[in-house]
Amino acid sequence: MSTAQSIALDGEGAINALQTRSLSPALGAEIIGVDLSQPVSDSLFAKIQKCWHDNIVVLFRDQHLSETDQVRFAERFGQLALSHTRRYTTANPAVMLISNIRENGKQIGALPDGEMQFHSDQCYQEKPAMASMLYAIEVPNVGGDTLFANAYAAYETLSDDIKRRLDGRKAMHAYDYDSASMKRGTKIKEGVPHFAHPLVRTHPATGRKALYVNRLMTIAIEGLPEEESDALLNLLFAHQENPAFVYEHIWRVHDLLMWDNRCALHARTDFSDDERRLMRRVTVLGERPM
Ligand code: OGA
Ligand code: MN
Repeated sequence: MSTAQSIALDGEGAINALQTRSLSPALGAEIIGVDLSQPVSDSLFAKIQKCWHDNIVVLFRDQHLSETDQVRFAERFGQLALSHTRRYTTANPAVMLISNIRENGKQIGALPDGEMQFHSDQCYQEKPAMASMLYAIEVPNVGGDTLFANAYAAYETLSDDIKRRLDGRKAMHAYDYDSASMKRGTKIKEGVPHFAHPLVRTHPATGRKALYVNRLMTIAIEGLPEEESDALLNLLFAHQENPAFVYEHIWRVHDLLMWDNRCALHARTDFSDDERRLMRRVTVLGERPM
């Protein structure tokens, strides 16, 4: 992890520059000196958004945020996902808890326990999430880290031969809520949400191409025999999860972190049932992948 501090000049000179620090060679920037409990001006927001587009993941440390503060900041990026079922939400339908805590034997949050394989949020829907934002309230002493993989780098480093094999093809994604967060489905079971998207998607803001498959939710490449599809997918999963493309975020309480589901995958490392983990999540709606 780099500890060097860099000033991102933005044409207006150093006085208005955003202070940032690289999180890893793979992706990620920490933005320093911004207090998100206060409203963010348009010019500051433009710099934060550009930093996010350039770095895929942005982190703000030591933030003291109410739900309203977090929602106000997330809304700057676009319309928020609201929970219709109100399951695991708080009084605010845009806020969802991610937690392993049980009260009276009942889970208070979604995605409760342990390790999760790499995935991209809601890739099984027509319009998957653009951004997901987690605010850390309680974190385990060991594990429960979140891994982020750069999907631009994954695409760009494929051989020309593999790029040609992916060209114009789509993959089917599905999410089976009943199976563990560790097991990839290979068949679409009755009632399981699913959708097919291009294997390579172009980010609408950066114009860059990203590999859009993942080990947890991608079922098959359309139009290929099952064996060929499985072999190609396994090759792509191994490639995109190369540690050279991955940043591992070790959480601290009061971290606010946001990732771009259009050009990053994420996963979670294991952690003990004996430790509590509580994240407050807000999701920004996205567009159909093209
Ligand atoms: C999510 C998710 C990972 C984590 O909220 O979509 O995958 O580290 N969370 O809890
Ligand atoms: Mn997720």
